[in-house]
Amino acid sequence: MTRILGVSGSLRRASFNTALLRTAQGLMPADSTLIEGSIAGIPLYDADEEQASGLPDAVTTLKAQIEDADGLLLFSPEYNNSIPGVFKNAIDWTSRPAGDIPRVFGGKPVAVLGASPGSFGTILAQDAWLPVLRTLGTRPWWSGRLMVGRAGEVFDGQGQMTDERTRQRLQTLLAGFVAFAAGQTD
Ligand SMILES: Cc1cc2nc3c(=O)[nH]c(=O)nc-3n(C[C@H](O)[C@H](O)[C@H](O)COP(=O)(O)O)c2cc1C
Repeated sequence: MTRILGVSGSLRRASFNTALLRTAQGLMPADSTLIEGSIAGIPLYDADEEQASGLPDAVTTLKAQIEDADGLLLFSPEYNNSIPGVFKNAIDWTSRPAGDIPRVFGGKPVAVLGASPGSFGTILAQDAWLPVLRTLGTRPWWSGRLMVGRAGEVFDGQGQMTDERTRQRLQTLLAGFVAFAAGQTD
């Protein structure tokens, strides 16, 4: 069983990115699973707080989930052509203490995808993740990408994906990424 952790970078109840993650859970290839991690409850990073109290529980949970997973899928919204602060903040917390980075992130297969109401579907946020993923020593998957633009037309009001073409593209991406995370492809 290949265990993938998916994390949505939005706290919004009706988040398109969370909807994309939950759609992906139903499209995973055989012998794989997509576990939903969460950034909810993670405070703003404060080195003084870290020194005084260590990692908050929500960070410890997410960090352990990343470490345990065979691969990581980041479902990233785009804010001002880059990574939303809440999402970056959460991953920054999971990179603490720095000595744990090789254990938690080192060589970890990772891919970024995302949804936005605009036309470009988070392409700039996805690219903005690349230096972060390199710094953490992850193993990004380069063979596929998915930008879900015009997300308001792809999902209905209940977060159900209604666009068949996007569903197929998502399924194809998941098959490729899971094979990569399982070590079946380079
Ligand atoms: C501060 C802010 C900046 C935004 N900047 C962008 C942007 O640069 N590109 C984009 O496609 N959408 C942008 N948006 C719109 C988001 O894509 C939209 O709010 C989206 O629904 C967020 O993802 P979510 O549905 O998962 O919460 C921005 C939204 C906010 C609140």
